[in-house]
Amino acid sequence: MKKKPNPLSDDEINFHTRKWIKPEDLNPNGSLFGGSLLKWIDEEAAIYAIVQLGNYHVVTKFISEISFEASARQGDLVEMGLVATHFGRTSLTMRAVVRNMITRKTILTIEKIVFVNIGDDGRPAPHGYSSITYNRDRMPTEHPQTGSINLP
Ligand SMILES: CC(C)(COP(=O)(O)OP(=O)(O)OC[C@H]1O[C@@H](n2cnc3c(N)ncnc32)[C@H](O)[C@@H]1OP(=O)(O)O)[C@@H](O)C(=O)NCCC(=O)NCCS
Repeated sequence: MKKKPNPLSDDEINFHTRKWIKPEDLNPNGSLFGGSLLKWIDEEAAIYAIVQLGNYHVVTKFISEISFEASARQGDLVEMGLVATHFGRTSLTMRAVVRNMITRKTILTIEKIVFVNIGDDGRPAPHGYSSITYNRDRMPTEHPQTGSINLP
């Protein structure tokens, strides 16, 4: 029998994005700067929300407390994973995990990152989805800036 996916388990998270830690990502002590990591996670979450909700206009609403458990040094490889844990009416809640691929330690876990789907009026808009897609079937077909159609 197929195991039921558990969105709270790291096993169910797809680690799509990897980063090679470079000098510009470091703090003055020579370890990974937390601000760099948060910027990467926010962008990763935005892209995840776009793919899930089929709308380029999504914004960060809430990020729960973050506990940095381990760090990374120049030359380390880190990987970021996200999974949707709740589809609200206008929001999407995700869980994030970042791991150091070299030391195999978890750098951080964020239990709740909430993005809100925004309508043409700039207000929260219902997205109409209730479950995860693993495909690109919800991707908008128009370009986010020009509005021109990219796909047949
Ligand atoms: C996003 C924004 C339009 C939402 O406006 P709002 O008046 O808070 O909207 P609502 O109260 O209708 O809430 C919208 C959704 O967010 C959820 N939400 C609101 N506050 C929340 C919080 N503190 N934690 C978790 N979810 C929250 C609501 O539950 C709702 O989800 P649902 O429809 O799935 O139930 C507005 O807060 C905003 O523009 N914020 C700035 C966003 C931004 O610029 N982010 C980038 C970083 S600067």
